[in-house]
Amino acid sequence: MADMPALDWARVEQLVEGCAQCPLHQGIRHKVLGQGDRHAPLMLIGEGPGEREDEEGLAFVGAAGQLLTRMLAAISLPRDRVYICNVVKCRPPRNRTPLPEEMAACLPLLRMQTALIRPKVIVLLGATAARATLNPDIRITRDRGQWTLRKGVWMMPTYHPSFLLRDEQRKPEAWQDLQALRDKLMELGLYQDLYGA
Ligand code: URA
Repeated sequence: MADMPALDWARVEQLVEGCAQCPLHQGIRHKVLGQGDRHAPLMLIGEGPGEREDEEGLAFVGAAGQLLTRMLAAISLPRDRVYICNVVKCRPPRNRTPLPEEMAACLPLLRMQTALIRPKVIVLLGATAARATLNPDIRITRDRGQWTLRKGVWMMPTYHPSFLLRDEQRKPEAWQDLQALRDKLMELGLYQDLYGA
């Protein structure tokens, strides 16, 4: 039997760059792997790149990303100490929600990223990320802020920052979720790792 190539970041980068498993790669400018600290105990997963992300090849750099940076700062987490990525690595046309088959095609890449990072805590930004990774029946308004321990990793869905930009009234709930995140990191003894100099 042929040896399986070892899983490392170079391999994941190569797989993402060469990926043509679904039609989303047609017409994009950049694939968006994700970025941040590849040794972070905290991983944040969004839906898919938007226009700015497609332009720059980086996750969460547009308006939603700027809000995300401020949300993390509100609990004293520097953004570069966490890892941020998306369920799909290519921008869906006109920012539509990725189709189930597009997410299914991309999920192995997210699993590889997760296997390499080995986070202790994962925050799922929005219903799409939560349904794709945690439970297809999730309703974000009902289930946000609730923790699930899956294979030793604590996972929590919360509102997507784009949703918060559209509906400011949801911000107090998002703040509760951020506090729950800070509490979980403290409980696991990880907060100092991320926040400490
Ligand atoms: N929305 C997402 O879900 N991901 C990004 O990278 C940007 C906006």
